[in-house]
Amino acid sequence: MTAGKKGIFYGIGVGPGDPDLITVKAARILDACDVVITPTKKMGKTSIAFEIVKSHISDLSKVLDMNFPMISLSQEREVLAKQWKENADAIELLLNEGKNVAFITLGDPMVFSTYSYVMEFLLKRDIEVVTLSGVPSFCNLAAQLNIPLTQGEESLGIVAMTQPIEEIRAILDAHQNIVVMKISANNVLMAEELEARGLEKSFVLVSNIGMENQQIIRDIDVLKGKIPYLSTLLVKKNYPLQ
Ligand SMILES: C[S@@+](CC[C@H](N)C(=O)[O-])C[C@H]1O[C@@H](n2cnc3c(N)ncnc32)[C@H](O)[C@@H]1O
Repeated sequence: MTAGKKGIFYGIGVGPGDPDLITVKAARILDACDVVITPTKKMGKTSIAFEIVKSHISDLSKVLDMNFPMISLSQEREVLAKQWKENADAIELLLNEGKNVAFITLGDPMVFSTYSYVMEFLLKRDIEVVTLSGVPSFCNLAAQLNIPLTQGEESLGIVAMTQPIEEIRAILDAHQNIVVMKISANNVLMAEELEARGLEKSFVLVSNIGMENQQIIRDIDVLKGKIPYLSTLLVKKNYPLQ
């Protein structure tokens, strides 16, 4: 008995919010896949990535929620690794049945995405993995506001507010342009760091980019208040933002 052909595992970046930002290639593959995996932080909670691209998913595809808990990578790596492995095992079973499986992910799959961990598990198992780029949230932030991320000889630092503060400070000091993701993890501290550097007018924060409830914040006092998880901060030291 010969083994059947294995399916292909696709990682699909769906962009930050606007359903029209998905690439033509990703839309074509998404429409044709047998199974679409939607990552959820909590079972029963709607996946944001699914909400963004549901119009591109065929009625014939099976949509499968998969749980990726939102816990700290540094403190609970073992719990997370166990969950990623279980998810990778479930995906492998589908691929062994010859199904093509798409894993949809917010923004770009290679920027702070749980997709990348599942991908690493599957790459070790002789599985064909195809990753399709999506528009990263910070690129769309810049495009929406018509603000260049970098020009000429400038550098761009990208950091998540969940990283140790020493690393965040080093990046704030090293670059002319800085993107701070997961800013809601400690937005008050970031506001204080900006004030300490005289950068309180050199930032823009955008929440829910490309969604109906998109919000643009340039006031340092508002940055100190409660802000949504889907918020990204751009700091530009040499460019008029306000
Ligand atoms: C787990 S990371 C995912 C990043 C994503 N892969 C990307 O390319 O943008 C989540 C963080 O991305 C940023 N983000 C993603 N989508 C966003 C949106 N629609 N509006 C604002 N920020 C967003 C926020 O900083 C959020 O805390």
